[in-house]
Amino acid sequence: MGWAEWIRTVEIEPSLYAADFARLGEQVEVLLRSGARVFHFDIGDRHFVPPIQVGPVGLQSVPPRIHREGGVLDCHLMIETPEKHFAMVKVAGGDSVTVHYEVCPDLPAVAAAAREVGFEGVGLAFNPETDPESVAVVAEGFDIVNCMTVHPGYSGQKFLPHSLERIAQVRRLLPPEVSVQVDGGVDFDNAGDIYRAGGVLLVAGHSIFAREDLPRAYRRLVQALA
Ligand code: DX5
Ligand code: ZN
Repeated sequence: MGWAEWIRTVEIEPSLYAADFARLGEQVEVLLRSGARVFHFDIGDRHFVPPIQVGPVGLQSVPPRIHREGGVLDCHLMIETPEKHFAMVKVAGGDSVTVHYEVCPDLPAVAAAAREVGFEGVGLAFNPETDPESVAVVAEGFDIVNCMTVHPGYSGQKFLPHSLERIAQVRRLLPPEVSVQVDGGVDFDNAGDIYRAGGVLLVAGHSIFAREDLPRAYRRLVQALA
């Protein structure tokens, strides 16, 4: 399956930001064996978000393992001028790119540039302070809208209050073909509510990788959606 199909399904997406980078390949394999097929990779630039994170060079070792099992790697670009990096992310094996509403003055041009490079999936993320309504009106041309439920930049933060209302609001405002992704603080205790509010692609970093037993954590999150 490619992105076009994956975004129609309900998925827990392990966020590799929270992985142990010395054991990255092994942790990805373990999660693939547990059934995970959509993985999330964050790139930050120290401008839009405070930290510098691993970029396309570090990313390139990951996709071959995921692709071998028919999975995809979803790349969340928490960076200014993301379009300048699309080609590198594509060459590194990324399958989709998500850009931020707050730093892209010409969203249709950015979405078109992502398609031009060959991404099957193109996402639009928005921060906790951003009004879901302003995002919904410019979401045409995107496959996914990522509702950030923490301030972007770090893994391991708490799911912000009022996030469920924001997820439900953006879901109501978007056309049905646009999938809602939820990113930040997803855990066993809120995954079911997030799904009921309209989130179908649930990014999970700390709630998987901070636990000893990765397959168990992944499965518990999947079960929480039932
Ligand atoms: C945060 C990133 C997230 C992060 C989520 O800025 O966009 O994808 O990895 O991590 P958790 O699930 O630990 O909040
Ligand atoms: Zn992310």
